[in-house]
Amino acid sequence: MVSPEPTGGPTLPQVRRLVTEVPGPRSNELLARRAAAVARGVSTMLPVFVSHAGGGVLVDVDGNSLIDFGSGIAVVSVGNAADLVVEGVREQVGRFTHTCFMITPYEGYVAVCEELARLTPGDHEKRSALFNSGAEAVENAVKVARAHTRRQAVVVFDHAYHGRTNLTLALTAKNMPYKHSFGPFAPEVYRMPMAYPFRWPTGPENCGPEAAAEVITLIDKQVGAGNVACVLIEPIQGEGGFVVPGEGFLPRLAEYCRTNGIVFVADEIQTGFARTGAWFACEHEGVVPDLITTAKAIAGGLPLAAVTGRAEIMDSVHVGGLGGTYGGNPVACAAALGAIRTIEEQDLVGSARRIGDVMLPRLRALQKRHPVIGDVRGRGAMTAVELVVPGTKTPDPATTQAVAGACHAAGLVVLICGTFGNVLRFLPPLVIPDHLLDEGLGIVEQAFAQVAGGPQARGPVVAAQA
Ligand SMILES: Cc1ncc(COP(=O)(O)O)c(C=O)c1O
Repeated sequence: MVSPEPTGGPTLPQVRRLVTEVPGPRSNELLARRAAAVARGVSTMLPVFVSHAGGGVLVDVDGNSLIDFGSGIAVVSVGNAADLVVEGVREQVGRFTHTCFMITPYEGYVAVCEELARLTPGDHEKRSALFNSGAEAVENAVKVARAHTRRQAVVVFDHAYHGRTNLTLALTAKNMPYKHSFGPFAPEVYRMPMAYPFRWPTGPENCGPEAAAEVITLIDKQVGAGNVACVLIEPIQGEGGFVVPGEGFLPRLAEYCRTNGIVFVADEIQTGFARTGAWFACEHEGVVPDLITTAKAIAGGLPLAAVTGRAEIMDSVHVGGLGGTYGGNPVACAAALGAIRTIEEQDLVGSARRIGDVMLPRLRALQKRHPVIGDVRGRGAMTAVELVVPGTKTPDPATTQAVAGACHAAGLVVLICGTFGNVLRFLPPLVIPDHLLDEGLGIVEQAFAQVAGGPQARGPVVAAQA
């Protein structure tokens, strides 16, 4: 009898195992095919081709099992191929795969919107609309805010990332690689300073209130509060460098918006669904946004996104003004219901907090040994280290790349972010077993010792062998 294909999901052995170089020969064959068929503009950070994944590991086509500190950029928070996600998808895909909710509706879409109303901050009446990607959700949040206020201006922040469509590129801060050569961009977008504690000129302790005051003055003097449809902000910036805003910044902005009839939009696409140790990152400072955009972890790996918000704001759009062929696809909705049940039944909000409680002290101890680590930050299972030339705030992207490369070679997936490309970010699945979290952190520590030297240098990072 032919032995069955090993399956992915939580039953995958939770071990790191390297049986070839990374990438191995089969990945290299696929890389050659990729180069001949896939557009160059679509980049790859770690060129191993995945064959199975689950829990805290990715298994590649050469049989290497890598520890995952990336979760496909904060998507598979419930673990890859999580049981309830797979069950929901299997059941749904066998009944029907698509009708288009705008043509003939189905229950799953409504059920996801009900769950979003229950789980997002605030006990006011809410409505949601579902889309396919985070960028699409952000675009629609802007549409809703403009329709509601009859105003045009959109306020965004330094280091922001909101997507790659034309409007969201206008909202995104970073030129290379996102915006370069793709303009012109949408008008009526105003960029403000971000409350970035590590880089705030008068020190992190002053950052929140001073940044809020500066932003409010700039809006009043340069835009005019009466022209602003919405203030759009990530409650912890993702792509821009895992910047946790200085304390008090978000509540002050939300209050200013409330006073001036401006829609306060929280982009929780990366931070939402338990990632930061709360269902949504706004909750850490008691902020209740008017609109909230979600995507990524909402559906355990299937493409789904949403705009959720105050009923009177969402319902100010005329009938037919929101939608799209695939938005709220029934299979993606079934996956979302499975992912949400998983987060609740397995208390993944608590798991995210525990992951942060393990990671942050280890990273702070690492900072003491390596002055190249200028800052350690994050909340829950969304943590990062920012690398600088020791004793300065000058970004050090080269060392960041080298440390990430050493982690990859040792079988640990880590990601880089930040406006200056000098932030190593860690986003393990919230179901990662303790021993893999510990082993992954050990690899990060060894990678710093190898690349940045210092008292812990012990030679190359040792790759585990089968
Ligand atoms: C905060 C934030 N907003 C929007 C987006 C865009 O989402 P998508 O890539 O699904 O379009 C992202 C993606 O990384 C994000 O992190």
